[in-house]
Amino acid sequence: MPLSRFKLASTSAAGIIVLAIAATSALAQPPGRAPQAPQGPWMNKDLPPDRRADLVIAEMTLDEKIQLVHGTGFGQPGSGQPNRSNGGAGWIPGIPRLGIPDLNMADSAVGVTRGAQRSRYSTGLPSALGAAATWDLELAYLYGNVIGRELRDQGYNMSIGGGVDITREPRNGRTFEYLGEDPILAGKAIGQLMKGVQDQKILGDLKHYALNDQETGRNIGNVILDRRAMRETDLLAFEIGLRDSQAAGVMCSYNKVDGDWACENDYLLNQVLKKSFGFKGWVLSDWGGTHSTYKAATAGLDQEMPGNNFFGDALKKAIESNEIPMARLNDMAHRILRSMFAVGVVDSPPAPTRVVDVFQGLEDAQRIEEAAIVLLRNANNLLPLHAATVRSIAVIGSHADVGVLSGGGSAQVDPPGGNAVPPPPPPAGARGGRGGGMFGGAPVYFPSSPLKMIRGKAPQAKIEYNAGTDPSAAAALAKASEIAIVFVNQPASEGRDARTLSLPDNQDALVSAVAAANPRTIVVLETGGPVSMPWSTQVAGILESWYPGISGAQAIANVLFGDVNPSGKLPVTFAKNEQDLPHPQIPGIDLQPQGGRGGGPFGGQLPPFDIPYTEGLKVGYKWFDAERKEPLFPFGFGLSYTTFSYSGLKAARDGVTFTVQNAGRREGTEIAQVYVALPAAANEPPRRLVGWTKIRLGAGESKSVTVKVEPLFLSIFNVGKDAWDLLPGEYKFHVGGSSRNTPLAASVQIAPGSN
Ligand code: BGC
Repeated sequence: MPLSRFKLASTSAAGIIVLAIAATSALAQPPGRAPQAPQGPWMNKDLPPDRRADLVIAEMTLDEKIQLVHGTGFGQPGSGQPNRSNGGAGWIPGIPRLGIPDLNMADSAVGVTRGAQRSRYSTGLPSALGAAATWDLELAYLYGNVIGRELRDQGYNMSIGGGVDITREPRNGRTFEYLGEDPILAGKAIGQLMKGVQDQKILGDLKHYALNDQETGRNIGNVILDRRAMRETDLLAFEIGLRDSQAAGVMCSYNKVDGDWACENDYLLNQVLKKSFGFKGWVLSDWGGTHSTYKAATAGLDQEMPGNNFFGDALKKAIESNEIPMARLNDMAHRILRSMFAVGVVDSPPAPTRVVDVFQGLEDAQRIEEAAIVLLRNANNLLPLHAATVRSIAVIGSHADVGVLSGGGSAQVDPPGGNAVPPPPPPAGARGGRGGGMFGGAPVYFPSSPLKMIRGKAPQAKIEYNAGTDPSAAAALAKASEIAIVFVNQPASEGRDARTLSLPDNQDALVSAVAAANPRTIVVLETGGPVSMPWSTQVAGILESWYPGISGAQAIANVLFGDVNPSGKLPVTFAKNEQDLPHPQIPGIDLQPQGGRGGGPFGGQLPPFDIPYTEGLKVGYKWFDAERKEPLFPFGFGLSYTTFSYSGLKAARDGVTFTVQNAGRREGTEIAQVYVALPAAANEPPRRLVGWTKIRLGAGESKSVTVKVEPLFLSIFNVGKDAWDLLPGEYKFHVGGSSRNTPLAASVQIAPGSN
């Protein structure tokens, strides 16, 4: 029986308290730091990381090697280990006599988690999905850099964020942690994000490898997908991200893929990740995702996390008996150590003496969110609001008086001062789990008040708040106001999927009631991912703010009042309803209870089931295009307070050049997108995104831009050859402001044999 999440979670509340006390008293020996500074030849910074790893491995005992390839429990040192853990999700003691520091790992998908562990603070960034909505690789880098910077300040040396599972299933509870439905956009974004982390000399990690695209049955589900579709969709995001970032770690996922657990899947780990991608770092299992010793070790797993059920004594015995060759253990250790040398955690360990730069974090989070917000509707140009002339505003719903929603699960960042909307006390006898909004607990709000920010923008206006729990009371306030702004939300968390695309808690009825009372209604969404909006044409404005982060209220108010001209574009398709999705019902959702830590996604008791991803290559917009379905809002879509026109496309096989003009009267930023239809023989969905550029243009200004297109992005995966193939034939480029609005088109011929 694998190390179960329940066992870990159920002991963690007490453990965390003990740990917090122990950690404070252990500060004499800072976490992540080797207590001595040995002078072996591997400490020579001029040697290549692989050589340094070999030199140090030659000095290591069997026990020291084994110690490196498994964790010590959930944030807690095992018995007999010195207590240097920082209290993060994982800790692996280093080898002080050789100068190898501990690995202190922290969950950090949207900011460093458990910042409150030692009275520390971390920046709650907007959703990772929001970072993808910026389509801005510099901001993706900044996103990772904030995380890396704050991990360093807190004494961690490894991020276990880096989620890049493709949004095959928009109701996935972790959609907010990931980077959308397109493998090229997600791959490029995670590549920069991880570079941002690792440039802070913090080990990065991409997860969850692979095809952990839904939470339902994540510990028992067996994903079925053909290899071509795997390589061209979910695995492509990892391939691009790893290539661009040289990330140190890859976390294998809980689920099975084609019959084998992802953490003992020879095809995924040995053949694709290590051989085909040339990944030099190490594979760590998701927490409790290791299922065997021999099979996992020989299939390519390098480190069991967070415990030692399979890679502790059992692995030692297997090595001693030659069941598993010593060369394989050396390879595991090599991958870990070479990454530590390459990224810099040995030479420049974090010194957790500084405090996090709170103000820089607030500023960075705001910058990212301002670029992440997507304006989905703006009838009669109601937005931006005119601060000087607006007379009255009704602000309604979603606790907008006190805060903005955040995502739950292991990505949950602690809000400063605690949950801005404290949940009712738990029923007597309930046991604490891993923090507030985790695994189905109460949603956590950050203390960033949209109401206050809106009041600050228009101090002369009468601005009143209604909680939105009674639609008719909210409608009455809306009727008495010039403008109504309804905040609606969809809480989401690791460990459970949304059953439907609908907003929960009667919020659709709330919006309809308010819209019926006031035609100047604007809806601000705080959602984990796409939701349906049966009221979309009844309201004047719609803004998607994702989970907006610690500076969310400022960013939202800046967009509402036009201090920021919105430029975000959707990294996911918004469907009208579930019937239009490849799976109207999430595979397996009826087989198991949802929510909470009991049963749910972790349940080993339930019978395993298949998750047949029959849509194959047709993920997201590719499905809607191929099936000729009309989305509610298409992939790549987003409005601005100005408009843009496109002209003069020239296409070549390595890229396109075209002109974008700001046709309006105010400065704005356009994300111009390049899609390609492959030759018919490729048998692909109608078009795929192959590039984009972000252009800032003054009123009336026009610019000619060039977007380079990599040959990989035009290729298909040939399973027979086990290689990418650029087919001869006609490639039709389409250029425009969204996947469904591409005014320019031009074709390029690729001659046979020219690839
Ligand atoms: C999650 C991982 C996370 C780990 C450690 C797992 O349940 O799937 O994403 O990094 O826990 O908290």
